[in-house]
Amino acid sequence: MTHEDHEGTRRDFLYYATAGAGAVTAGAAVWPLVNQMNPSADVRALASIRVGVDGIAEGTQLTVKWLGKPVFIRRRTAVEIDEARAVPIADLQDPEARNANLPDTTDGADANRTLPPFEGDDSGEWLVMMGVCTHLGCVPLGDGAGEYNGWFCPCHGSHYDTSGRIRKGPAPENLPVPPVQFVDADTILLGEGE
Ligand code: FES
Repeated sequence: MTHEDHEGTRRDFLYYATAGAGAVTAGAAVWPLVNQMNPSADVRALASIRVGVDGIAEGTQLTVKWLGKPVFIRRRTAVEIDEARAVPIADLQDPEARNANLPDTTDGADANRTLPPFEGDDSGEWLVMMGVCTHLGCVPLGDGAGEYNGWFCPCHGSHYDTSGRIRKGPAPENLPVPPVQFVDADTILLGEGE
């Protein structure tokens, strides 16, 4: 390779690297605006991701990034499900489901927060929610953390139960459930669709 060739390659690389960074930045800035303008199907598809969940063992959680934010995908144990389903609505700090897949007025019963499987009844096994504390946006700790065995946000001490509902601390709302559905027995789709 000659000296000129080498310089040319390097310049090209810098050019592409810069162009790529610019494109990413512009995309991030433009999104909220596009989002409010009833985006076309192909734009919406950019905001959707598929996640294989067959490798998630009972009692464990996968965290994926969606629209720049963490999403917790938890396969709950029978104990976690029982605990969440035994809580009366009256005991909830936030009595609403906060589930983008259901009407705004839906109550926060555990069955209104979990994701029905591809086939069959909702056993309550799957819980998918944004991993962003509703107080000031920290990422809560999981795997049975906090006084309610669910998630705990150490920033200011918010405790979420095994359904991701706020039970103690300053967070005003339950962890939100994003648009999500199973598209086959082992795959979920996060987002509005494709
Ligand atoms: S950000 Fe979670 S408790 Fe304040």
